[in-house]
Amino acid sequence: MGRITVSIIKADVGSLAGHHVVHPKQIEVAKESLQLAVDSGIILDYYVFNCGDDLQLLMTHRRGENNPEVHKVAWNVFKEVTEKVSKPLKLYAAGQDLLVDAFSGNIRGMGPGVAELEFDERPSDPIIVFAADKTEPGAWNLPLFKIFADPFNTAGLVIDPRLHAGFKFQILDVMEGLSVELSCPEEMYDLLALIGTPSRYVISKIYRKDGLPAASASTSRLSLIAGRYVGKDDPVCIVRAQSGLPAVGEILEAFAFPHLVAGWMRGSHNGPLMPVSLDDAKCTRFDGPPRVVALGFQLRDGYLEGPADLFDDPAFEWSRRKAMEIVDYMRRHGPFMPARLGPEEMEYTTLPMVLEKLKSRFKRVS
Ligand code: 13P
Ligand code: 13P
Ligand code: MG
Ligand code: MG
Repeated sequence: MGRITVSIIKADVGSLAGHHVVHPKQIEVAKESLQLAVDSGIILDYYVFNCGDDLQLLMTHRRGENNPEVHKVAWNVFKEVTEKVSKPLKLYAAGQDLLVDAFSGNIRGMGPGVAELEFDERPSDPIIVFAADKTEPGAWNLPLFKIFADPFNTAGLVIDPRLHAGFKFQILDVMEGLSVELSCPEEMYDLLALIGTPSRYVISKIYRKDGLPAASASTSRLSLIAGRYVGKDDPVCIVRAQSGLPAVGEILEAFAFPHLVAGWMRGSHNGPLMPVSLDDAKCTRFDGPPRVVALGFQLRDGYLEGPADLFDDPAFEWSRRKAMEIVDYMRRHGPFMPARLGPEEMEYTTLPMVLEKLKSRFKRVS
C-alpha cells in the first residue's frame, strides 16, 4: 500500500476511418512501450485502451503528480505510435494532438489530456476511470456536481456520516488560467453559477472536507493552446469510490441522464453524452453522438485489478435510447443554434469569410 499516483494521459494521434477509432496496432505499440517503462521502474502498472479515436494510457506509479519522467514516458509513447503506426498506415490526422515538437518537462499544455490523483491507497480502493470522445473537459461538470454535491443523486451525502460534511471543488477558469476552491453544500449556488458555463469554468479536482483526494479531471483546451482548430479536447477523469466516498453506483448514476455537451461534429455542436461499453466506444452518426466509457479497477498495492466495463450493462440501455432520441431532435435543427454552438465556441467557422464577402452589400438602416 502507501502513497500511489494514478495518471491517465491521452491523445488523439491519428485514427482509422476519419475520427472513428484507434487502430489495434496503435494499442499494441503503446502497450509494448509502457511495458518498457515498467521494466525500467518508472511506472508500476498500466492499462491501454481507447475511447473512439483517443488513445488512453492509464498508469500507476509512486512519483507523484506532474512527474517529468512519467509525463515523458507518455509523450514518447504518443510520438512512437505516431511514427511507427499512424504515419506509415496513413491513419487520419496522424499526431493530431501533439502540438509541439520537443518534450519540455510537463505534458500539460503540449496537447495531450491529463488527469492525475495522488493518495494513500486504502486497504481496498476502488477507482473509476472515465474517458469521453467528441466533447470537452467541461462535460464532466454536470456529472461531477451530481456525484459529489447533489443529494438527489448521491444518497451517501445524506445518510453516510463520512460524506455528510460534503466536498471541496477546485474550479479552473480556462480562459484566465485562474483557480478557485469552493465548498459544498455551503457554496453550492456560487459553484453552480460558475460550472454552468462549462466552456470556461471546469472542475479540476475534488477533495473530501478532511482533504482526502476524491476526483481529478483533465482541463486542457487544445484550441486555447494552439489558437486554432485542432480537434476537441476529449476529456478524462478519475473518481475514487466507496468507504466514505460515493459508491460506484452513485457515481454511475450521474451518467444515466445523457446531458448535452459541446463537441460532436467538427467540435461545433451540442449533443447528448451517451454512456457506452468499450466495444461501442466509437463515434459514427454525425461523428457521434459524444460517448463516455467507465472502467472500474481495484488497486492492489499500486497495481490495477480490472477493468470492469461499467456501462456494458442493459441498465444503461434506456440512457442510450434517450440519447438517440435527443440526437434526432438536435439534428433536426441543422445549422441553427443551439444545436450548433455559438460563434465564440465553434471550432471552425466561415463567418468572417462570409461577412467579408458581403461587406459592400450591407446597407445601414435608418
Ligand atoms: P477535415 O477537414 O479534416 O475532413 O475535418 C472535418 C472533420 O473530420 C470533422 O469531422
Ligand atoms: P476528435 O476531436 O475526436 O478528433 O474529433 C474531431 C472532429 O471534428 C469530429 O467531427
Ligand atoms: Mg480525431
Ligand atoms: Mg477524439
